[in-house]
Amino acid sequence: AAGDGLVVASNRQPYRHDYGDDGEVTVDRPAGGLTAGLDEVMRRVDGTWIAWGDGEADAAVVDGDDTVAVPPDGDAGGTYTLRRLWLDGDEVQGYYYELSNQVLWPLCHAALATVESCGDAWADYRRVNEQFADAMAAAATDADGDPLVWLHDYHLALAPRQLRERAGAGPTLAHTWHIPWPSWDTFRACPNRDALLDGLLGNDLLVFHVPRYCENFLRSADRGLDGAAVDVDAGTVEYRGRTTTVRAAPMGVPADRIREQAGSAEAAGFRAAFRKNRGIDRDTRLAVGVDRLDYTKGVVQRLDAFERLFADNPRYRGELTFVQIGTESRSAIPAYADYQERVEAAVDRVNDRFATDDWRPVVYTTDMISNEGLAGLYREADLGVVSPVRDGMNLVAQEYVAAGADDPGVLVLSDQAGVHDTLGEWAVSVRPHDTNGFAAALDDALSMPERERRRRANALADGIEDDDLDSWLADVLSAVAGVASADGGVP
Ligand code: UDP
Ligand code: G6P
Repeated sequence: AAGDGLVVASNRQPYRHDYGDDGEVTVDRPAGGLTAGLDEVMRRVDGTWIAWGDGEADAAVVDGDDTVAVPPDGDAGGTYTLRRLWLDGDEVQGYYYELSNQVLWPLCHAALATVESCGDAWADYRRVNEQFADAMAAAATDADGDPLVWLHDYHLALAPRQLRERAGAGPTLAHTWHIPWPSWDTFRACPNRDALLDGLLGNDLLVFHVPRYCENFLRSADRGLDGAAVDVDAGTVEYRGRTTTVRAAPMGVPADRIREQAGSAEAAGFRAAFRKNRGIDRDTRLAVGVDRLDYTKGVVQRLDAFERLFADNPRYRGELTFVQIGTESRSAIPAYADYQERVEAAVDRVNDRFATDDWRPVVYTTDMISNEGLAGLYREADLGVVSPVRDGMNLVAQEYVAAGADDPGVLVLSDQAGVHDTLGEWAVSVRPHDTNGFAAALDDALSMPERERRRRANALADGIEDDDLDSWLADVLSAVAGVASADGGVP
């Protein structure tokens, strides 16, 4: 198969096995853009995906070499190999909860006040990265031809250099960083900034979603490392005898599949049942938000804006319901547990203020919703509201557009999302903290003339289709081919 030489590595695994009440093994998919997108890619190209497994059922279903074929419904779309690593509780705490998610995540999202001090977490991070490097080196050795090792995200910043030390010049190393890279002025607050830069410069290719992040990285490397030769225009860094190429490739979504799902009978059934079960009248207009419950997603600011909208425009009362789907995320971290409480409190506040006997302004649920169900909701909604205070890319905005039908809705999009760089022109832009401006934008979007609405929706849909998931994969692979051939030319 085409992907025999492809090795992918990420912190989060695409499937988690568990035991149901009856003792049968069940399979779940985690929420998050990285795994959703890459799973689609792996179904198309095959290969090996390395990530850590969690719990007894995960351990029970793997073969002797810690692999299991996924997805479980594989015959529909092709299977690939999931190779699981095993971390102990202290490693998960230090590497994942502390260093990755309480240092690097807030730092890269420019939330410096949310960065926590790290004690031994750095040692855990280094050690887990080494485990990944060992597994990647072994998988690259087993792979056919010239292997490509494709790493993902901020959990694995040291692994490229460590892998280079193990595997030598052999495999091509590409790394996609799915979150923002902040300006140097912010990045310099990172306690381990030199080691992170050095680790990432073990890659042949480093990919961000938008050019702004590339430039931020290049300037960070220039300022942060002695002896790095950085060419910002060419997008290259020479350091420790090798060249790393830095490129932008905005991630897309499988637009055709989402459109199909949105039009399916299952989606229609879900929509009808959702309205009925949540007490939403058949004629009530919907606005929808779909987010992991992360403080970067701007859900609290969004609720402030809806409160202002209903306060200033009584005509929307009884006529519009804002549906917020929120998926629990990283709850063991205090900043996330607090955020969940703040979202709930804001929902209650808006509902207490405006709800009537037969109408609620906000319907909020943390229930896990199937892809078809989500696509159905997107299609039904007059507004898709995506308002992160900062976000590397954001797939939900693209999914909303892809699900649109003949009578499409309006995308309301924060200018702080990476995807705003490509879609901003056709969306209704908001600044998430500007409550008044945000509420006015919601009003504009709700009262937009049909012609204007269609004009924007068509332009958005064209963009989403041109830059879909396949096109993203093609862009990354062509950048990989570029660096691989450049290497060949160097004596
Ligand atoms: N998602 C989901 N259910 C939810 C929330 C999110 O299936 O309740 C999916 C969503 O459809 C999208 C991904 O998770 O595919 C979120 O990706 P995005 O890039 O928007 O944000 P991330 O969570 O990766 O920061
Ligand atoms: C973001 C990150 C991913 C991560 C996802 C879900 O999309 O870029 O690396 O997988 O959030 O977060 P989690 O910590 O649950 O994997």
